[in-house]
Amino acid sequence: MMQPPLFDNGIDSVEVFKGIRFPGFIHTQESLRAACSFQFQDTDVLLVTFPKSGTTWMQQVLSLVFCEGHLGSIHHVPNWERMPWLEQIFFGKLCSSLNPGQPRLLTSHLPAEALGPVLQHSKARVVYMARNPKDVLVSFYHFHKLVNFLPDPSSFEDFVDEFLKGTGFFGSWFEHVKGWLGLQQDLNMLFVTYEELYQEPRATLQKLGDFLGRPLGPEKEDSILEQCTFSFMSQSSGVNYSQVPTTVMDPSRGLFMRKGVMGDWKKHFSPEQNETFNAVYQAKMGNSGLQLPWTMD
Ligand code: A3P
Repeated sequence: MMQPPLFDNGIDSVEVFKGIRFPGFIHTQESLRAACSFQFQDTDVLLVTFPKSGTTWMQQVLSLVFCEGHLGSIHHVPNWERMPWLEQIFFGKLCSSLNPGQPRLLTSHLPAEALGPVLQHSKARVVYMARNPKDVLVSFYHFHKLVNFLPDPSSFEDFVDEFLKGTGFFGSWFEHVKGWLGLQQDLNMLFVTYEELYQEPRATLQKLGDFLGRPLGPEKEDSILEQCTFSFMSQSSGVNYSQVPTTVMDPSRGLFMRKGVMGDWKKHFSPEQNETFNAVYQAKMGNSGLQLPWTMD
């Protein structure tokens, strides 16, 4: 199969797919369509997130679980090669170079409607990771300022508006979470949150190990937990995005490993923004019957 040429599109180009905007720099119609017809194998593990929900953190956890706590030679292999994104232009090439002796570890930001149909034909394990949307919003706002393939937000206020309307890049957080949770009964899926990994890392790791059929034990758990801390990952070139060219991610404008905490939204939201956010959250999520594990204040 012919691989699409890498970085064929300009850094600020936009690809609209299923009504959602994606950065055209790393997505094309072909790469997005190909993801929707990807043939999963029962041994695949797919991590799905809305951007800024702790994707890279979970990629590090999953890589470590599957190498029994010893990253060894993959320590410096960037996360996008260890666990490539299904929908990105590099996917075909990266997927074919994944270690054939191991389950394929894959990542996606696509909404449930895009991947649900193909996933339902397989027993592939899906780990869905969610984060308090207020912290997602703040992290995404800073990420827009950091990377050149997303537009600079005009103001925090406008960014909040766009997030609540669900018209920003990668679509609506609300639809993303509801869509994937709606597939819980149909897929081999584990729902995990940033907050539980933050507050109860060992218990969350054990839950993941069990779900993945890789029970770990205290020694491996210690080793994994040590290599998943914010400080360890900040120093690790495999997961701190320092291998990205500065024309794409400019370190003078911030760091990918920014703060890594719960509740940073409190330093950004005005009382009015918080009130508006809570009202929209309640309207969109309140009657969904979903029990999501964060408080909104
Ligand atoms: P902040 O911008 O709030 O600091 P993603 O990988 O989905 O893009 O998510 C990035 C967010 O996850 C960033 O949030 C980043 O700091 C945080 N993160 C990454 N590794 C982490 C870790 N080991 N512990 C806590 N947060 C982490």
